[in-house]
Amino acid sequence: MSKKLWGGRFKKKMHPIVERYTASIMFDKVLVFEDILGSLAHTNMLSHCGIITKKEGELLKKGLEKIASLVSENKIKFFIEDEDIHMNIERLLHKYIGPTAGKLHTARSRNDQVALDLHLYLRKKILSILDLLVLLQNNFLKIAEENEDVILPGYTHLQRAQPLRFSQYCFAYISMFARDIENLKSLWPAVNTSPLGACALSGTILPTNKEYVAKLLGFDAVYASSLDAVSDRDFVISFLAAASLIMMHISRLSEEWILWSTQEFNFISFDDAFCTGSSMMPQKKNPDVAELGRGKTGRVYGSLISLLSIMKSLPLAYNKDLQEDKEPLFDTIKTLEDTLSIYSLLLSSLKINKETMKKALEKGFLNATVFAEYLVKKGLAFRQAHEVVGQMVAVCIHKECALELLTLKEMQSFCKLIKNDVYRVISPLCIEKTSKRTIQFYREKIKKNQQWLTQKSKSIKKIYDHAGLPFIP
Ligand code: ARG
Repeated sequence: MSKKLWGGRFKKKMHPIVERYTASIMFDKVLVFEDILGSLAHTNMLSHCGIITKKEGELLKKGLEKIASLVSENKIKFFIEDEDIHMNIERLLHKYIGPTAGKLHTARSRNDQVALDLHLYLRKKILSILDLLVLLQNNFLKIAEENEDVILPGYTHLQRAQPLRFSQYCFAYISMFARDIENLKSLWPAVNTSPLGACALSGTILPTNKEYVAKLLGFDAVYASSLDAVSDRDFVISFLAAASLIMMHISRLSEEWILWSTQEFNFISFDDAFCTGSSMMPQKKNPDVAELGRGKTGRVYGSLISLLSIMKSLPLAYNKDLQEDKEPLFDTIKTLEDTLSIYSLLLSSLKINKETMKKALEKGFLNATVFAEYLVKKGLAFRQAHEVVGQMVAVCIHKECALELLTLKEMQSFCKLIKNDVYRVISPLCIEKTSKRTIQFYREKIKKNQQWLTQKSKSIKKIYDHAGLPFIP
């Protein structure tokens, strides 16, 4: 391996252990196409501004394109000695086009380069995660419609509370994921801002054009402060915070499904294809996927805390500590992509045990609240109604029967206002159907997000297409 690209002032070779400790190529190689995309746009700007000649620009472009196609064909080997993806590519460029490669780094530092790569990469990944969230919402909506007739106990304090339509249960998760989608969309302006041109920290005396290069890369804005541009990782932290919320929702869902799949509940059964057995207990079928979804939530929270801690004591501007932003970010993206994809499949393959759910409505006095409301309709104050029904519940506990099994006479001994129409009202199966309007509301919301996604993906893909680079969301 030849000498370091920054080796001018050094007299001694780097110790191999330092080389390994400081390198990031093992994980930042996933930025390869974003790095090339950024370099192509930077080359274009340099030649547009007359900082390099058109001919030099063409040669740099050719070299970068060659590297991109070799990477696509899996023919490139990266070296730890070249530390990171940026220097690995620069070294390759030297190999393919000779000394002109040395001009690529005019008016650019690895500090604004790495920040740029992160903005480009996260922009692309936000689109793929949004796509998976919309798919999950769609699957929930489908299950909700298919199980419109299914009623189950709703819980508070994990105690049976009131009857619930299964569709209402689905709407709760569709709503949580709708907030997650809004959160991710709200990151767009910060993520889609260009740090390129900030150079090491304070720009350059060369006549560059930050706006021009930002436009080429499809950015909506350019950082106003160069110091901030190279050291800002707020957009990554905001993404990790949004990811933590997504995983928190996934984890709540998982906990519920794990509980519901127990023999004690038996409200749902997981498809065999999504479970594992025990190496010792032959009868076991374990809900590993849901358990891992719950477990991986901790890992994503860890990434958020990790980056917040890395940032909290960093003086301006770039510090090598910032290299530690990558693994938590990449790991979180992968965890989200894997988890959201598998949960869509898990949901579609879920068996809903309608009869067990229905049977569970028989115990727990789930109709006590509507009974009290019935009495309110008949003229009682709610507190009074609450008291009357409470007394009836106490008698039923003693008699080991449900409220609806009391005779009208028995009921009237507690309150004269009770009439025969009570039985229809307090039937646990008599709860309102999900209105078509609710379903329509969610369907339209999902459709709007799909349109937003299609429009953004199209415009981003165009940028990669134009540069001849693969757009792999
Ligand atoms: N690999 C580095 C990172 O990920 C790139 C920037 C390095 N800049 C520097 N001046 N050492 O942060």
